[in-house]
Amino acid sequence: MMCLVYPLNRIIDIFVPFLMVLTGIVFGAYNLLEVLVIERRPRLAFNFRHWHSQQFTRLWKTFGPLAFKALRPSVSPLAAVANGVVLDIGPGDGQNLIHYKSENIMKLYLVEPCVGLHMRLRENVEKAGLDDVTMIIACGVQNVEVLYDHGITPASVDTITTFSVLCSVPAPEETCRFLYSLLKPGGQWVLVEHVLADMKFPLARWIQGMFEVVWPTLMGGCNINRDSGGYVREAGPWMMVELRRGQNEFGWEMLGHAVGRLVKQRC
Ligand SMILES: C[S@@+](CC[C@H](N)C(=O)[O-])C[C@H]1O[C@@H](n2cnc3c(N)ncnc32)[C@H](O)[C@@H]1O
Repeated sequence: MMCLVYPLNRIIDIFVPFLMVLTGIVFGAYNLLEVLVIERRPRLAFNFRHWHSQQFTRLWKTFGPLAFKALRPSVSPLAAVANGVVLDIGPGDGQNLIHYKSENIMKLYLVEPCVGLHMRLRENVEKAGLDDVTMIIACGVQNVEVLYDHGITPASVDTITTFSVLCSVPAPEETCRFLYSLLKPGGQWVLVEHVLADMKFPLARWIQGMFEVVWPTLMGGCNINRDSGGYVREAGPWMMVELRRGQNEFGWEMLGHAVGRLVKQRC
């Protein structure tokens, strides 16, 4: 039986990103028609940034709730250990905020560049009882000066959380080194990220490489083949590293995950 289930699983696994690409094509075409036919703003049809932002917002409305359900068993226990000054990179609409334990959080910085999501993000901040301690910062993590202006400086953060975001940040390795520098000695980084297949599955990696040709354009800037767990592990010296695959994953999945908690070395 096992010998049948295994190849079937792998075919279904490839089918999921394939369906996502098809959805991306349909949404992309709809975004274009929307500005041309519904809004009648033909100039916007050539504005890639606008199209890109519409594309991401539409995709996240569709796939966000599915990701929330699927990743809950991994995200929930990790978010629950966030404490002190917490820096959440790319919280999106804040669907994961309910997993935080508000009594352990002194200050929560939400760094979210997509302002179209901020209204729902604020609602979810309130729902999670975090409004007194939260500051939403409308920029990307690469906007170092803006973060510094908000007091997010080297060795100032107790917990960094990244949930499904390192796939989208620019220069991910450099970004991870920068984020590492923001952690206090003994500070922790918790993450759940979809990642590159394991080295021992070269075919899976090759297929991811094929998807990657169109993935960032159609999926609102996401990359399917980043080794995000590795980037975090290599960002600097850690005194504790717990990194594993997602629940019931083997390492060959197209959208498999790195899940973990790392603690920065004390000087
Ligand atoms: C796939 S969503 C994940 C949202 C949320 N973390 C969750 O798990 O529900 C990725 C989020 O990262 C944000 N993002 C993309 N590029 C970013 C960057 N350079 N800096 C910070 N956030 C970014 C997007 O706007 C989006 O809200």
